[in-house]
Amino acid sequence: MAFTFFCNVSLPLLISLMFFLPLITINSSEPLISSYIVHTDSQSRPSRFSTQDDWYSYMINTFTDQKMESQSSSRIFYTYNVVFHGFAARLTDKEAKKFTKVPGVLAVLADKVTVKLDTTQSPEFLGLHLDYGLWPETNLGENVIIGIVDSGIWPESDSFKDTGIGPIPSRWKGACEQGTEFNSSHCNRKLIGARFFLKGIEHYMSDRLLEELGEYRSPRDGVGHGTHTASTAAGSEVANANVFGFANGTARGIATKARIAMYKACEVLCSESDIFAAMESAINDGVDILSASLGSQDAPYYENAMAKAAFAAAKRNIFVSCSAGNLGPHAYSVHNTAPWMTTVGAGSIDRTFPVTVQLGNNKTLIGSSLYGKKINTDSFPLVYLGDCIAANMIPQNVMGKILVCNGSKLQAINDEHLIQEAGGVGLLQLNHITEGEGLTAIAYTLPAATLGYREALELVSYIISTKNPLASFKFHNRTVIGKERAPITSSFSARGPNPIVPEILKPDLIAPGFNILAAWPPNISPTRSSFDPRRVKFNTDSGTSMSCPHVAGVAALLRAAHPNWSSAAVRSALMTTSTATDNQYRLIARYEDLEPATALSIGSGHVNPQLASDPGLIYDADISDYIRFLCSVNYTEKQMKFFVEASKPCSGPAGSPGDLNYPSFSVVFRPNSSVQELKRTLTNVGELLPEVYKVRIVHHKVKKANVTVKPQKLIFNKSFEKQSYKVRFQSNYVFNKSGTTVEQMAFGSISWESEGHVVRSPFSVLWLQS
Ligand SMILES: *[C@@H]1O[C@H](CO)[C@@H](O)[C@H](O)[C@H]1NC(C)=O
Ligand SMILES: *[C@@H]1O[C@H](CO)[C@@H](O)[C@H](O)[C@H]1NC(C)=O
Ligand SMILES: *[C@@H]1O[C@H](CO)[C@@H](O)[C@H](O)[C@H]1NC(C)=O
Ligand SMILES: *[C@@H]1O[C@H](CO)[C@@H](O)[C@H](O)[C@H]1NC(C)=O
Ligand SMILES: *[C@@H]1O[C@H](CO)[C@@H](O)[C@H](O)[C@H]1NC(C)=O
Ligand SMILES: *[C@@H]1O[C@H](CO)[C@@H](O)[C@H](O)[C@H]1NC(C)=O
Ligand SMILES: *[C@@H]1O[C@H](CO)[C@@H](O)[C@H](O)[C@H]1NC(C)=O
Ligand SMILES: *[C@@H]1O[C@H](CO)[C@@H](O)[C@H](O)[C@H]1NC(C)=O
Ligand SMILES: *[C@@H]1O[C@H](CO)[C@@H](O)[C@H](O)[C@H]1NC(C)=O
Ligand SMILES: *[C@@H]1O[C@H](CO)[C@@H](O)[C@H](O)[C@H]1NC(C)=O
Ligand SMILES: *[C@@H]1O[C@H](CO)[C@@H](O)[C@H](O)[C@H]1NC(C)=O
Repeated sequence: MAFTFFCNVSLPLLISLMFFLPLITINSSEPLISSYIVHTDSQSRPSRFSTQDDWYSYMINTFTDQKMESQSSSRIFYTYNVVFHGFAARLTDKEAKKFTKVPGVLAVLADKVTVKLDTTQSPEFLGLHLDYGLWPETNLGENVIIGIVDSGIWPESDSFKDTGIGPIPSRWKGACEQGTEFNSSHCNRKLIGARFFLKGIEHYMSDRLLEELGEYRSPRDGVGHGTHTASTAAGSEVANANVFGFANGTARGIATKARIAMYKACEVLCSESDIFAAMESAINDGVDILSASLGSQDAPYYENAMAKAAFAAAKRNIFVSCSAGNLGPHAYSVHNTAPWMTTVGAGSIDRTFPVTVQLGNNKTLIGSSLYGKKINTDSFPLVYLGDCIAANMIPQNVMGKILVCNGSKLQAINDEHLIQEAGGVGLLQLNHITEGEGLTAIAYTLPAATLGYREALELVSYIISTKNPLASFKFHNRTVIGKERAPITSSFSARGPNPIVPEILKPDLIAPGFNILAAWPPNISPTRSSFDPRRVKFNTDSGTSMSCPHVAGVAALLRAAHPNWSSAAVRSALMTTSTATDNQYRLIARYEDLEPATALSIGSGHVNPQLASDPGLIYDADISDYIRFLCSVNYTEKQMKFFVEASKPCSGPAGSPGDLNYPSFSVVFRPNSSVQELKRTLTNVGELLPEVYKVRIVHHKVKKANVTVKPQKLIFNKSFEKQSYKVRFQSNYVFNKSGTTVEQMAFGSISWESEGHVVRSPFSVLWLQS
């Protein structure tokens, strides 16, 4: 059983998780029973079985060892009819092998456990206003239903009050399921549905682990993540939201009046069988938008739970917003890369929490902290312990000193406690070179701050240059808005190229995902440490898990503004109007080196809700386009069965994956290919008629490729009129004979510009040796 480690976990959570992992045990006696997902071909069901369930029971009764409590009802724990056909069952490895040979069974896959989970200022930063524009025009998304697949929800949070929200849309088919400390009375006109799917994950977690995690067998959130993401997407207005006074303001979800339906499928970790069940249920219940801040290391789409479930959602025109992952800044780290998913990276907003650190040599460093308890300007000795492993945090090393630690490994939840136990008086947490200058705001329990990599170098060189290094903190206890250059791409935000199909550019765009304030369960400390007795109603968190629900919220507003747009049209509008520049009119930078970010980190750019509601032109696509795309990556007929029931779905010419009518371009040149011609079709959704668009091509460092577009001008005379154009990419790069795999990249954009609209698509050119 492979544990696929993934990534949308904010760092402290990930570390705390690793702390718990040794407790994970297989919850069963000999012989080993595991969870399997059995995919069936519904068209192969023998006629003697009148229902799928009869067929599946027959399989269980026939192909399992009768001596082991073999009642089909206890073996099968989910059946699926929407995300695919099949069921999840507990089987021995031997039984699972037998099942692969049963006629009508497409595949028997081990249920995988994936470590899961990858606002006051952010709506303002996105340019949303209560008095004009998209918010009033859409009545804050009141008629849109956002399904959140996550760790559950804390229903009593003020963010889920339904004051001023109208009756539940009559089309809603969801439910409010009962369980531990949760019943139907916890739902209302804001939280209109809540279900939980834990049968897969519970098989892998001991009761002790579940207890340690404070988990509930109900839709209630024992982790905090789902409460945070749900309130970010669609939380109600809450005045005076803050964490210890920081980030104080009125908190609002992006689609403030949209309805929330929580599908709890994770208890920190999630299993694929639970995710399938959650997504299937959300689709059946009638959600319009799905927000899934989770993922696993990306795999071919036919082996990828998120991609398969999102495909079923796309068939019903549900917009699916997914987190890009937190394993940046490394290339190929992005996940949730299928073109029917909208893949969201994370950037900062223009809000900081500055702390001054004054060194004994009178130099000052600016760090970040949400520590606001006392302002103490005394100087203390500094001690640098590198990675600060627990064994080093002893009084001999730490007593009366400010501890300086490499940050990335430190954020284990118990470290602050250890430092205090050992008599330490403060902590400076240093960013690693790959984290660069992004300062995570942490609600420390002791005087402490995070420092960027440049400050870290300065601090360390000061410490080693003097016998008695000293420092003092000056906590300003304030929140600074509007001064900071923003957005800047977070270093953790996962990067392209797309590891599965490099011809699709991913991530698609970025949204706020750094130091985001949102609702928090009142029984979990803001640091998630059990030693931290403090309780808060709002908390800050960082990750692409935080940016994903921002885009889900914006998509909900677009659904309300344009009810008959396809989900591909919504994604196109989000992408072609996103901004490539920041609040200082410079190209968006990336935190690791403050250099301009490329399309591999920001996709099309930073989401701009107001512009997205009037994009002018859209790149539309429907399910048949996605099927053709899957054919073009040469999936076998059997692999195609995970997506399409029809036999021989790939009969026509499939073309190349880059032919999909996608709002961005990723051109891949391999040896012996020097020209690529791609076609795109634009649909007019503007209201100025006729509207004349001219193309503008911007090259960033594109010396090795020539880009030409034909025609150069497009005239749209009617609403919903379609016009096509061709882009020709010519490579001037000569591959080395040696067969080395050094990759070359080039970037640019193709914009269609009229008097009223700019429809911009980024392109990346990748030369792959193999
Ligand atoms: C639901 O729970 C609340 C509080 O936990 C309780 O007051 C209420 O009676 C319960 N309602 C139902 C229908 O069980
Ligand atoms: C938050 O802001 C409001 C309004 O500006 C103010 O009344 C309140 O005292 C502030 N709360 C904190 C904790 O700073
Ligand atoms: C910091 O600000 C908060 C809210 O404004 C206040 O409650 C707290 O006392 C302040 N702390 C200090 C040390 O001034
Ligand atoms: C730091 O500044 C103080 C006061 O301005 C001064 O007395 C002291 O000599 C300075 N120390 C160093 C190392 O420059
Ligand atoms: C801590 O970080 C520095 C700078 O990134 C690095 O050189 C060092 O190897 C790290 N580890 C330790 C144990 O110091
Ligand atoms: C959307 O609605 C408009 C007018 O109601 C209609 O003309 C158009 O064809 C519709 N578009 C789609 C894609 O259904
Ligand atoms: C798919 O197969 C065709 C024909 O063999 C080949 O030309 C094409 O390059 C393949 N595409 C991919 C993405 O592997
Ligand atoms: C590229 O073309 C050369 C000569 O035409 C041929 O020898 C070589 O095998 C080709 N390489 C690939 C990867 O197709
Ligand atoms: C590509 O563009 C460069 C400069 O714009 C030009 O000199 C060159 O001839 C072009 N190459 C081709 C093959 O069109
Ligand atoms: C749009 O209108 C212009 C002028 O009225 C005309 O020349 C052109 O052919 C029309 N285009 C289409 C696609 O109908
Ligand atoms: C190709 O060869 C040249 C010269 O030997 C070398 O400088 C360059 O780095 C090589 N490029 C690749 C992609 O291997």
